Amino acid sequence: MKNDYVPNSTADRFLRGETLSVDEYEEILNLMAAPEFAQEVTELAVKLRKKYFGKKVYVRGLIEFTNYCRNDCYYCGIRRGNRHAVRYRMNEEEILSCARQGYELGYRTFVLQGGEDPWFSTDKIASLVEKIKMTYPDCALTLSVGEHDKETYRLWKEAGADRYLLRHETAKEEHYRMLHPSSMSLAHRKNCLYWLKELGYQVGAGFMVGSPGQTRRNLAADLRFLKELEPEMIGIGPFIPHHDTCFARHEAGTVSQTLQLLSVLRVMFPQVLLPATTALGTLDPLGREKGLQVGANVVMPNLSPTDQRKKYDLYDNKICVGDDAAKCQDCLALRIKNAGYEMVSARGDHPGFA
Ligand code: 5AD
Ligand code: FES
Repeated sequence: MKNDYVPNSTADRFLRGETLSVDEYEEILNLMAAPEFAQEVTELAVKLRKKYFGKKVYVRGLIEFTNYCRNDCYYCGIRRGNRHAVRYRMNEEEILSCARQGYELGYRTFVLQGGEDPWFSTDKIASLVEKIKMTYPDCALTLSVGEHDKETYRLWKEAGADRYLLRHETAKEEHYRMLHPSSMSLAHRKNCLYWLKELGYQVGAGFMVGSPGQTRRNLAADLRFLKELEPEMIGIGPFIPHHDTCFARHEAGTVSQTLQLLSVLRVMFPQVLLPATTALGTLDPLGREKGLQVGANVVMPNLSPTDQRKKYDLYDNKICVGDDAAKCQDCLALRIKNAGYEMVSARGDHPGFA
């Protein structure tokens, strides 16, 4: 790759925050190979992060309440077809107890995340949402339970859910087909995201960095799709192979590309909520700190009971599986402080929603 970065109009327009075409985003991703340009993007990302969020890092207490899943995503360790996965499902009491612990630790956002587990019917989830929101009216509740129909999403919104995370995984049909069986469709996934927006959720989309078959062109399409969706949150982390999946022997994504994309996303979406993910911390012991230093402003410590954590096994060598909620809290608070940031106890809504 050539290193001779010459400022051009596409680069200027990108740095001004304009929406570009897929071709132009591809050009930007190519330019990121030039250290001068990459540095300019990172500096701007840091500046924008500081302008809108100061040194604040928001915390989301993650409750991984079931690893049953009706889907068979080729990259994911809890896919239905993985007969080695040890399945678990938390009961309502256990879930509420996680939330209580999180509340005591100062968390004001809970994320209920799980596989697409039909045992948790629409009504069961709605009732969970109601109970958590009734007990902790000052907290935001985020759902991350996959693809459903619009009426289901509406019911959960009416029950009190505030936000929804559903990574689109890739915005290109051919690439989506490489990562998912034919029973799943990119069109439906995108529909879900648009429904969630329409229903008034704060919405999170995102993708894995370095997933099998991903190209710069795909990534450019991801950036363009995100501009069209305008999500309030964007989750990205490196792809990490899981030994019981089709991609067991595929190489992992890289920390450096993930960091570059975090800063690109911060420049494109100055006010977005952007986590430094567990996957980033898995590939590099200081991955999350590095993420915060290039534009990320959220961390998502785990609140699940230790004996179940290791079973929410999306990819190999996932960190924090042996630590309890309080330990993760202390560890992250220290990491955030050492990175020069400040963990805050607040709902941390998107500025556009406050
Ligand atoms: N490596 C990294 N991230 C993964 N996810 C699923 N499997 C993997 C993997 N092998 C991500 C997906 C999903 C999110 C919950 O976890 O992007 O949306
Ligand atoms: Fe469950 Fe991917 S295997 S969502």
